[in-house]
Amino acid sequence: MAAYIAFEGGEGCGKSTQAALMADRLGAVLTREPGGTPLGGQLRALLLDADSYRVGPRAEALLMAADRAQHLADVVIPALADGTHVVADRSVYSSLAYQGAGRELGVDNIRSVNDWAIYGRWPDIVVYLRVPRSVAAGRLPRSLDRFEQEADAFHTRVTEAFDRLAAEEPERWIVVDGTGTIDEVTREVWRRLAPMLGEK
Ligand code: TYD
Repeated sequence: MAAYIAFEGGEGCGKSTQAALMADRLGAVLTREPGGTPLGGQLRALLLDADSYRVGPRAEALLMAADRAQHLADVVIPALADGTHVVADRSVYSSLAYQGAGRELGVDNIRSVNDWAIYGRWPDIVVYLRVPRSVAAGRLPRSLDRFEQEADAFHTRVTEAFDRLAAEEPERWIVVDGTGTIDEVTREVWRRLAPMLGEK
């Protein structure tokens, strides 16, 4: 059975690098949120722009959900139907953490809006790379996007939400310490992920 595998974590956790390596190894479709479709690319630019206009929390949550609806319909669901694994750099769980907890819109509100947006198709496996804020901060680019500019309290709420979500569904979440080298993290992710996919 093809699996929908999401990579999650805070800013600078290394999930984009690890998602690309795993997708390659699995022959999976590699995709991302926001921005996994042509419409999503436009929404991503709107969502990350830190300078041009205000984006209110509810508008932000709905734009993330709109990106995701298009992404599920055009990329994720068709690939899975074809029998191809999907590796996604972020997923609906980012919205639970960032909009639900970070923006304090309520995780349950965000869960219900998004359950509709994703046609009820939640990731089968979540790989959560955990990196302390002090390490992650050193990995950030010089020019910061709208989320990277948020205060520490916002990012603490996001991390605590990811931790809670992981604890609630231990059978779905693989929590990996992301502070090691790229190779060390890749090895640990594979060690945990491979048996869940019936790979050696
Ligand atoms: P991403 O490209 O993964 O950024 P980074 O590599 O810097 O972690 O995601 C862009 C930003 O969008 C990131 O700061 C998290 C945020 N985001 C949300 O707030 N909600 C969401 O549902 C998603 C998918 C991303």
